[in-house]
Amino acid sequence: MKFIKLFSVAIIASYIFLYVNAQEQKSVQATISAPSNDLKTIMNGLLEDTKLLTEGIFLEDFAKIELAANNIANHPKPSPETLKKVKANLVEEMGVFKGFDMEVHNAALEIAMSASNEDLTRVVSLYHQVIDGCQSCHNQYKNRISKILKAN
Ligand code: HEC
Repeated sequence: MKFIKLFSVAIIASYIFLYVNAQEQKSVQATISAPSNDLKTIMNGLLEDTKLLTEGIFLEDFAKIELAANNIANHPKPSPETLKKVKANLVEEMGVFKGFDMEVHNAALEIAMSASNEDLTRVVSLYHQVIDGCQSCHNQYKNRISKILKAN
């Protein structure tokens, strides 16, 4: 009798554990793959994938690195309305802005390729390029664009 009681408690506990785990997995998935056109949402997705990329590097998990890098390279595009506002503000600087996006895109694509060749040294060198691309754009444009997107 006591044994059966203990046994059912253990089963219920493991169900709760599995359920909570599944919910956590779901929320991570949602932030990573949410198809949104809002720039902040896209950026937070990039942050999640950059975390995943970092984790992949330190766990030497090439599948994780490849997944994260492909997510970064193929991040959702901002909506036409958002792009219009950005273009109207940046005018001839739009090329520089896009250049930073391309820097991140190309480095991320090459990371995915290097991960499939299990070349960790190359992955880490390109990882620096990704971070540099994110940070360069933020340095020059983040506050400015943030303001104009908030104002509208
Ligand atoms: C081409 C320019 C550009 C590149 C490249 C870029 N960002 Fe951003 N990022 C922005 C702008 C502009 C904002 C401000 C958005 C806003 O406030 O509406 C921003 C904001 C952010 C934010 C803050 C979001 C919030 O909720 O306030 C995070 C996090 C972020 N970026 C992460 C990244 C990561 C990680 C990368 C590289 C993998 C990256 N960004 C690359 C332009 C860029």
